[in-house]
Amino acid sequence: MQLILQLVLLIGAGAFTLEAKPLPLPLNSLIKPTTLSLTSRKPQDGASVSRHRRRHISRSLKRKRGISPANIPLEDNFLGTDLEWFGSIQGKFHPAPSENDFTVVFDTGSDELLIPGTNCTDSCQRQNKFDPSKSSTFTPDTVDGIFTESFITGGDASPYGLKDWSVTVVQGSDTMTAGGLTVSNVSFLIIQNQSQPFSEDPYDGILGLSTDSSETSFFQGLISQGLPPIYGFFLSPHSIGNAELTLGGVDPSKFTSQTTFAPLVADGAGAWITNCSGIAVNGQTSPALAVDTEVLFDTGTTNVFLPLLMAEALYALISPAIQPNPAEAGAWGIPCSLVASLPASVDFTLRSSDGIPFNVTIPSSELNLGPFDGNSSLCQTVFNSWPGYFTIPPIIGGSLFKHYYTTWDSGNLQIGFVPVSW
Ligand SMILES: *[C@@H]1O[C@H](CO)[C@@H](O)[C@H](O)[C@H]1NC(C)=O
Ligand SMILES: *[C@@H]1O[C@H](CO)[C@@H](O)[C@H](O)[C@H]1NC(C)=O
Ligand SMILES: *[C@@H]1O[C@H](CO)[C@@H](O)[C@H](O)[C@H]1NC(C)=O
Ligand SMILES: *[C@@H]1O[C@H](CO)[C@@H](O)[C@H](O)[C@H]1NC(C)=O
Ligand SMILES: *[C@@H]1O[C@H](CO)[C@@H](O)[C@H](O)[C@H]1NC(C)=O
Ligand SMILES: *[C@@H]1O[C@H](CO)[C@@H](O)[C@H](O)[C@H]1NC(C)=O
Repeated sequence: MQLILQLVLLIGAGAFTLEAKPLPLPLNSLIKPTTLSLTSRKPQDGASVSRHRRRHISRSLKRKRGISPANIPLEDNFLGTDLEWFGSIQGKFHPAPSENDFTVVFDTGSDELLIPGTNCTDSCQRQNKFDPSKSSTFTPDTVDGIFTESFITGGDASPYGLKDWSVTVVQGSDTMTAGGLTVSNVSFLIIQNQSQPFSEDPYDGILGLSTDSSETSFFQGLISQGLPPIYGFFLSPHSIGNAELTLGGVDPSKFTSQTTFAPLVADGAGAWITNCSGIAVNGQTSPALAVDTEVLFDTGTTNVFLPLLMAEALYALISPAIQPNPAEAGAWGIPCSLVASLPASVDFTLRSSDGIPFNVTIPSSELNLGPFDGNSSLCQTVFNSWPGYFTIPPIIGGSLFKHYYTTWDSGNLQIGFVPVSW
């Protein structure tokens, strides 16, 4: 468990990426139709993990009067596949409201808020930048100084896809607002510079929503003000629109039947991890898939990442023509002429809080991510794995969330699913 958890922290957390350029590629979380890349805005070394993990259980028992839930509209980072969403948060530091807006991926797979700062010039050209000098409420963190965090990417042949993607940051705190809910003194990381591929993101930063984010995180700040410790995601396809995050509750207008909850594992270190008793493809399974495993649910992930033996077994049940693409470590593909007709409905069997098995299902429509940039006759498929990717539990992202309204209940440490249909 130790090993698995450590790797989850490295790889499972954060915004994973899918992008379309040939190597060298990985863009942080930028979704483009074809090539794989995988990045996690997570520190690579334990030291900086704990630095930001100022965990604090004994929140004030004396709750203030509750504040009401709020909806935040989300934009779909579309570009051909529909697997990543982001929305706005506002700072209180500029006179002009539009300059206060930062777009972030609300990421259940990480626990920090990262926003580019005005020092980040060359590598943050597309992003809005935070200017501490314009804010009367900004408090610099003088303890940690400037430091660098490294991230994981799958677009690399090394074990576990480790590669030198990094951001250099300073830490500070300021007032932040999202969906009209305001928290003062939210601590965040201000990006000073970043590896070039990060700069192509169509959004500015990332707001982590793991269950144990620090007391000074935006979400914990809302909880201390009395907001219920729960949120709901409606991650609809581009064609449907109205994607939305609800902070402090769920939006009942987005679903019609009852939510089924699965408890989180006890030792998940704040990640949204449940047990899974098996994976099946079109109702069939095989020894490598019919096993007890854990699965990590991550709104910052676009595709699904599987341990290698599981990916091989799963694809064997879909089509032997699906093979790793040697040009893109971690990505698999099939001649585009063969992909359209393939049935590939993938069930993950979870156990509900009442002990009853239920499935969450990625439908066949998600299998095909479209042609690779480097090879227009080869289409990428949604499950990724690469040699060395053995011990990390499956990481499930946008291709599942598109088909469910999900409830992230960090008070009761459970995640709820209710199917939505279009
Ligand atoms: C710019 O860099 C300086 C020196 O490292 C730092 O003190 C300051 O906070 C940075 N400003 C921003 C906006 O990140
Ligand atoms: C914000 O928190 C820092 C320590 O984390 C503290 O020094 C500062 O006084 C706080 N500022 C406000 C406005 O509460
Ligand atoms: C940021 O800039 C510093 C100084 O030029 C450099 O050492 C560092 O590698 C850069 N970091 C990134 C992530 O580009
Ligand atoms: C997950 O599975 C492990 C191993 O079977 C078990 O000990 C644990 O209680 C399970 N946790 C949940 C939340 O079901
Ligand atoms: C879950 O999926 C498996 C494999 O397709 C199937 O055998 C099982 O009946 C399903 N369970 C439920 C509760 O639907
Ligand atoms: C493109 O993919 C096809 C189908 O797998 C393969 O036969 C061909 O060699 C690939 N072409 C290039 C340039 O990689």
